[in-house]
Amino acid sequence: MDMVHATADPLALVRRVGALIDAGRCGAAGPLLAAARQLIEPSPELSLLAARLAEGLGEHALARAEFDAAIEVSPDHGDLRKQRASFCQRTGDYERAARDAAEAVILDPADPDAKAMLGSALLNLGHPAEARTCLSEACSAEPRNPAFREALAVATETDGDPEAAFAILRAGLSPMGGPLNLRNAAILFCIRHRDFPTAVSLAEDGRIAGTVDACLFGLKGHAQSSLGLHAEAADSYAEALKLGPDDPYVRHLVASSGLLPGAKRAPPDYLRAVFDGYADRFDDHLIGLGYQIPGAIRRVVLEYLDAMGQCGPVLDLGCGTGLIGVAIADLPIGPLTGVDISGRMLAEAEAKSLYATLEEADVLDWLAEDTGTWNLILAGDMLCYFGALDPLLRAIHPRLAPNGWFVFSVEERLTEAEGQGWALHRQGRYAHTQAYLEDSLRAAGFTLRDMRRQTIRYEGGAPVPGFLLVVEPAPAVH
Ligand SMILES: C[S@@+](CC[C@H](N)C(=O)[O-])C[C@H]1O[C@@H](n2cnc3c(N)ncnc32)[C@H](O)[C@@H]1O
Repeated sequence: MDMVHATADPLALVRRVGALIDAGRCGAAGPLLAAARQLIEPSPELSLLAARLAEGLGEHALARAEFDAAIEVSPDHGDLRKQRASFCQRTGDYERAARDAAEAVILDPADPDAKAMLGSALLNLGHPAEARTCLSEACSAEPRNPAFREALAVATETDGDPEAAFAILRAGLSPMGGPLNLRNAAILFCIRHRDFPTAVSLAEDGRIAGTVDACLFGLKGHAQSSLGLHAEAADSYAEALKLGPDDPYVRHLVASSGLLPGAKRAPPDYLRAVFDGYADRFDDHLIGLGYQIPGAIRRVVLEYLDAMGQCGPVLDLGCGTGLIGVAIADLPIGPLTGVDISGRMLAEAEAKSLYATLEEADVLDWLAEDTGTWNLILAGDMLCYFGALDPLLRAIHPRLAPNGWFVFSVEERLTEAEGQGWALHRQGRYAHTQAYLEDSLRAAGFTLRDMRRQTIRYEGGAPVPGFLLVVEPAPAVH
């Protein structure tokens, strides 16, 4: 109460509430807003604050109700329309977002914000050409707005014109620097399209201009590492670590360059960041690298079917975009359940309509909750994101049927690393020695049915060596 009296000027109170919400101090803003609502007549501005506060407190239904009530009273309030559009974008209601943004454009046809919001909502609704038109208009009105430019580049690429998309990003950068986020978006674009030299050069321009952050150095290191420039990549990762010492993505890349001791597994945030960013071009890229594992797993599944006649249910751990599902789609097996940590990889798998169930989770968390019994558990190119395998193998063992098979691939580590049977390699993946695999499988209660050398994929034309393993629960000893 003292605080309210100390700021009894209602307008100052409203400003204070806004500042507290901006600072993320929603708990403190609540009582002040309640006091302001007693002192001041209802207004669109107060409703907007109430909606932002509710959203800040995670109360989305209340936030939506505040917006709806305010717009019912003031349907021609452009700012309210835009704010509800942006709230609906954040909460996934793209239809409503598009309608509100369109209303805001009608209310003020010269408002570039409204046009950009309409463009983003249309993009989310799967209309890239229309999105491109709206975002082009927003960008022409405000060519220096990096968010408009980045969104226009995304719409243009989604509309099937990657060259124009890159030109849009590049035109927003100047030799003197330009906005950092736009530069990072341009570097990421080059990495996604495997133009590593341009990625490095854009990052280097940023460094010279002094517009840098941990992300820029992390991306630069990634591009250098992909060009085989490992010493240079290590320097970039070291810079990234200085600027973002707690960033999980940066830390994992730095560890993979040998500058930090390797963690026992890739951090979940790192995995999500990498695979969410990779999902839309994963299939093309892996096919381009001659990815062998789905075909190799198919051959083992055929052997299982020969032995057992039929097979199901089947669990695909780290199913990604569903390439293994594709490889076994014509076989008499199923139902197929896929688990993956990356929502975007799962969305690609969902689009293939081959899995009865898809679950978004870290496999260790998911297995800890699972009570199913699976005839076949598959994991293609997933164990390479774990160094120490014991926790995963121990979690899988109780889920496998007594005559079930666990079939998985690993990358091979050819030399023993300081008494440890696994090592984190430069691309952020782990590789395991044959002896380590045999020991940890035995310790987790498996017997080895088959372990064959298997090329995983090709990098720079050279095969990445690995194993395909087929293991079963060891018979109980009486
Ligand atoms: C290289 S992709 C392979 C995808 C698929 N198995 C295939 O063969 O095409 C690795 C996948 O494993 C997922 N992944 C890695 N570690 C994971 C974890 N701990 N929990 C869940 N998913 C994981 C990644 O998100 C990614 O989709």
